[in-house]
Order: sequence, then structure tokens, then C-alpha cells
Amino acid sequence: MNKYTRDFHSAEFPGYRVSAPTNDKPFWQRRDLPFVDLDLNLSVDADRQYLEENYHELFSEAGSVNVREWYEFPHSSEWKKLVLKNNTSAVELNKHKLVPETRPTAVQINTVNVLEQLGLDILYASVLCLEPNGWLQPHRDQKINAVPPLNYFWIPLSQNLPSLKIWPYGYVESKPGHVYLFNNQDWIHSIRNQQAHRRFVLIGRFAVESLPKTVKTLVEEAIQDQWDQ
Ligand SMILES: [Fe+2]
Repeated sequence: MNKYTRDFHSAEFPGYRVSAPTNDKPFWQRRDLPFVDLDLNLSVDADRQYLEENYHELFSEAGSVNVREWYEFPHSSEWKKLVLKNNTSAVELNKHKLVPETRPTAVQINTVNVLEQLGLDILYASVLCLEPNGWLQPHRDQKINAVPPLNYFWIPLSQNLPSLKIWPYGYVESKPGHVYLFNNQDWIHSIRNQQAHRRFVLIGRFAVESLPKTVKTLVEEAIQDQWDQ
């Protein structure tokens, strides 16, 4: 692990509160929120078991990428991505070098189906895998004008100590069954797997235009509870 990452994870962070609620725009356009914690009570155990038991087979498939090899310089340990779904404007993403040239695998992860049953139109989904002691250096992900900051979801599938740390907030608690909407474009963040086992998370993006009212309300209520007080 490089010094930058080690310092980031050992430092005490000051914490963060929003200065004033800015709920005059749709939640997905808000850039003042590092993340929103949604308790959707998802059952992720079967997906995790499936990924653990079939790891070698799954992560050697065509849609699997060793992301460290894809990036131009080593700013992480080896970590792997298994693309499940890609309905985004792949051309735009590739133009910005945001995603490697991968076609989704035929692998089915039940949690994706559950999100779709809630009415989410999933544009992109992949499973990220990090080995024990794995790490990603503090960074911000590339900003694309057309992509709203809070349509990105991050779902822990493994039971973890917190692994995602955001400046200046600190560690995001990674509760099983929860969905975290996460603004990875504006907030510097870093990942460290401090567990003795492989860590799987499901990440992706959903369409904001077709978001069901029930989900929108759920997110707005979570934001009220967590930030706008
Ligand atoms: Fe990131």
C-alpha cells in the first residue's frame, strides 16, 4: 500500500455536515451529499455465496477485468470487476476512458433483479472484488456532465468492517442489506479491505428519468434524516 493511502486510512477525519439544506433540486443533482444510506433490507447472502464459490470461474469470464491492469499506472492493489449489465451510452463512457471495453457477462446476480423489481432501470452494474489487504488510492472518479452524481449505487455483498472512507466524512458504515448512493465524482474516497476474506460489492447506475415515485420518496426521506436537519 502506498503512503498516500496508508495516511488516508490512519488519519482521524473531522466529519461532515451539510451547511444548509439545498433541497430545491432533485436529489440526484445534489453535490453537497457524499452519500445516502438506504435501508432496503436486501438479502445479499445468496449472491455473496455464489460469488465466493464460483470465484475462479466467474472472474475468468469475458466480462471480467483486472482493473489495475487497465489503468495506466498502479494506484491500487489488484482488483477485479465483473460486468453484469451495460446499457449506458457505452460510447460516451469509453470515450472518457471510464470503463474498459467489456461486454457484460451472462452472470445473473439476484440483487440486480431485486432492484429492477423495485422499478429501477439499471443502466450499468458490475461486481467489484478486492482481495484481503487490497486497496485503492484516494481519488475522485471522472466527472461526466450527463451523469448525475447520486445515481451511482454501492452495495456491500460481503460482511465487512467499513472499507469505504470519504474525506472529510470518514468511514461509511457498510451495513449488509443497505444500498448506498454515493457521489464518487466530487468527494475524494479510498477503499481498503481490512478483512481476512475477499470483499465483493455491487456497483452501478440507474436512470433518474424513470425513477419510481416510491423510490424517490424513500431517498428524499433518507436525506432528510441523515443530512438536512
Ligand atoms: Fe472511485
